[in-house]
Amino acid sequence: MELYTPEVLISEEEIALRINALGKAITNDFEDEELVVICVLKGAFMFCSDLIKKINRPIKLEFISLSSYGDNTLSSGSVRLEMDITGNIEGKNVLIIEDIVDSGLTIKTLMEIMSVRRPKTVRLASLLYKPAKLKHSVKIDYLGFEIEDKFVIGYGLDYAGRYRELPYIGVLNAGH
Ligand code: PRP
Repeated sequence: MELYTPEVLISEEEIALRINALGKAITNDFEDEELVVICVLKGAFMFCSDLIKKINRPIKLEFISLSSYGDNTLSSGSVRLEMDITGNIEGKNVLIIEDIVDSGLTIKTLMEIMSVRRPKTVRLASLLYKPAKLKHSVKIDYLGFEIEDKFVIGYGLDYAGRYRELPYIGVLNAGH
């Protein structure tokens, strides 16, 4: 198999520094309250793993999986809940952790799913935000990095299932 090293867009060190800052902000915002952290699979697994280590508050960790359907070239699409969380979030402080907000459809759908379960609060942490592709308005409470309209991989993000294990955010050049 061809081995290809992607160009680094955001280094491991830059990610770690930003996560330290986000962890401090979340810790301050929640005082002594417990948090239900919802990791959106698969892309957010690495960001979630590193971020929760920097949140000095009691946490219950949940996982959820959503999948997009339909023709991605169309502005309308639908998102299906593939795997739900197992815990009850009624009256709880919820922190959703995403790897990227692109069109915003996934997070819009997830917010709708969560809001009917009557949590006390719902906030969003996203490592990346790509404003060029946004079609649904989304409030990101804790943002890692705003990026240009490039296809990014690594640190949880994939291209055809690959590259999730890279410790940095990279860009695939044309032809790869
Ligand atoms: C990616 C990413 C977000 C979503 C963002 O998930 O992890 O969940 O797309 O895109 P949107 O803002 O346009 O909805 P993907 O469907 O690729 O699944 P994965 O996380 O399992 O790779």
